[in-house]
Amino acid sequence: MHPLERANLGDLRLWCRRAIHLQCASGRDTLSLWLEGAAEVVGVDISDVHIANARRAGEALGAPATWLCCDVLETPAELDGTADLVYTGRGAICWIQDIALWACTVARLLKPGGILHLMEDHPFLGVVDARKGKLCLRDEDYFKASVASKGWPASYIPELSGDTRDQSWKFEQQWPISAVVMALLHAGLTLEVLGEHPVGYWDIFPGVPAEALQKFPMILTLMARKPGAR
Ligand SMILES: C[S@@+](CC[C@H](N)C(=O)[O-])C[C@H]1O[C@@H](n2cnc3c(N)ncnc32)[C@H](O)[C@@H]1O
Repeated sequence: MHPLERANLGDLRLWCRRAIHLQCASGRDTLSLWLEGAAEVVGVDISDVHIANARRAGEALGAPATWLCCDVLETPAELDGTADLVYTGRGAICWIQDIALWACTVARLLKPGGILHLMEDHPFLGVVDARKGKLCLRDEDYFKASVASKGWPASYIPELSGDTRDQSWKFEQQWPISAVVMALLHAGLTLEVLGEHPVGYWDIFPGVPAEALQKFPMILTLMARKPGAR
């Protein structure tokens, strides 16, 4: 887990029976939640390859983990009201096309008193680019920024990985902070933490000096609680 997440969540052993990780990919962070103290974890991802990897990793560790291959927005009703923690982020909500429905899904999964934790690239990064080691603005609208692209930046999946498969088109939607917060408030959650941090959690602008990156927000953190007693 990232130090910002640890600082927000505290000792999971003390309060987290079930953590549901939305968009868990191959389950590394999901299993970290267990290793950090959640009694059981549930990972949800739309990719069958990721879920198969996650299942293998969970079995190898003997983790009390359940893996579900489905769209986040269609997470099964059996999980409703069962999560002490809904955990997501690190490149997750940019793939969600309906933020209001996403917020309602989070709210229905949480127990009363349960908490959502989100840590993402700050949405401002959606309008920033790096050229020749310098930051510049892309021709994008912060409020509507969306990107359709093929493949991945070398800083995310290095060419050295040997993965030469042709990638499908993908469609990213950069959600402004206000859109995320308002969707969660409309879904009935209470905002407890909103943080903007001048540190990245991955090398998003390779070649740009660290001093230049410390002058604007790189990470967004957010915690929101479902009202009620646990
Ligand atoms: C960049 S990864 C997130 C990685 C994850 N946070 C981690 O650090 O391991 C985005 C993930 O979202 C999944 N995904 C995208 N859209 C989804 C959806 N609608 N429902 C469920 N999973 C989705 C993808 O399969 C992918 O695993």
